[in-house]
Amino acid sequence: MTALFEGIQINGLALKNRSVRSATWMAMAEKDGRCTKRLIKRMEALARGEVGLIITGFAYVMPNGQALNGQLGIHDDAMIPGLSKLTKQVHGAHGTVAMQIVHAGVQTVMREKKDQPVWGPSPVYNKVFRKTPKAMTQREIKATVQAFAQAAHRVKRAGFDAVQLHGAHGYLINQFLSPLTNRRTDKYGGPIENRARFLFQVFRAVRKRVGKDFPILIKLNAKDFVRGGFHERDALFVAKHLDRMGMDAIELSGGTPASGNLGPARTKIRKADEEAYFLSLAKKIKKHVSVPIILVGGIRSLKGVHAILDSGAADLVSMARPLIREPGLIRRWQAGDTKKATCISCNQCFGAARTAEGVHCVVEKRAEMKKKSKGREG
Ligand SMILES: Cc1cc2nc3c(=O)[nH]c(=O)nc-3n(C[C@H](O)[C@H](O)[C@H](O)COP(=O)(O)O)c2cc1C
Ligand code: SF4
Repeated sequence: MTALFEGIQINGLALKNRSVRSATWMAMAEKDGRCTKRLIKRMEALARGEVGLIITGFAYVMPNGQALNGQLGIHDDAMIPGLSKLTKQVHGAHGTVAMQIVHAGVQTVMREKKDQPVWGPSPVYNKVFRKTPKAMTQREIKATVQAFAQAAHRVKRAGFDAVQLHGAHGYLINQFLSPLTNRRTDKYGGPIENRARFLFQVFRAVRKRVGKDFPILIKLNAKDFVRGGFHERDALFVAKHLDRMGMDAIELSGGTPASGNLGPARTKIRKADEEAYFLSLAKKIKKHVSVPIILVGGIRSLKGVHAILDSGAADLVSMARPLIREPGLIRRWQAGDTKKATCISCNQCFGAARTAEGVHCVVEKRAEMKKKSKGREG
């Protein structure tokens, strides 16, 4: 047995091992954000695959903060019955599950009305999304903080084991943190103390709503990899503060859709030293905090996992793409087949989100079809 298979507690939540399925949008929810049977099936497969903590894809806290098609909603009580089925099913398979909650800000693609403005801290043009957000008023900021708190309460009521705030990848919390997208001159802009105010208010409001015993996690960029964006020093400030404020775990990621090759889900991870591409940043932050650190980004081999856990840079390791291709990866490793993940980090699964099937491993599907047709020929 290795460190990966040692249990760990996060604010009283006992995890059977140190593996996390990083939040993954599956494009499988109903148009109105409700959970579906096929999404539940995919979550159940991860639980059966012995993942220590499964994090759902990002769920929007307000309809004007929906990022993409087929995204889960957590903006309304009507979402709770479907999500309760999800948590029940995962728990029945001895899994543990958290929900990630988000407001997409300028990265909102899906809107109820196409002429509805997208929100952001400041009216800074976003080249990737080709939009300029409307600067949020302080009233709108307050309403969004409350929407996060209400959403987190729904997460708890639906039977999830924890909630994760999406503070990374260029979404609204990240937009407030970044000096590039936050040019405000009020108490929400300027020095990092002010740029982090929105996040800290969200955290406090969520904590108040869910209580001290319910685990709250955050996915945070260690660096945006965008010129003038959120950088290492800011990330350290935020991590230290969240640690003091009682955040229960920080998942460190990096990059935004504007980071080019240095985005959150990088391609061409072939050699061992190309794995875990945020490791050096995590090491720097970990030294200064006592809150458990979860590392994500390019983790592919059990050997690499050992090295990360042994180095003390992270307490848990998180994967997204490898578990799209192999939901049973952790179970496979535990059973002694320690070959690295079969995911080749090609990112074709993003494109698959546009198909009726939703997010799936295109490479695996092709391989299966080839096998089948060979079988028929033979
Ligand atoms: C199809 C797909 C959907 C994703 N959806 C989310 C999401 O909802 N929330 C999030 O924080 N990250 C999301 N990510 C990013 C992953 O969680 C992860 O940070 C990234 O893929 C790097 O990890 P990996 O190398 O293990 O895939 C998504 C990635 C993929 C491939
Ligand atoms: S399509 Fe398959 S192999 Fe390619 S990144 Fe996605 S899960 Fe990995």
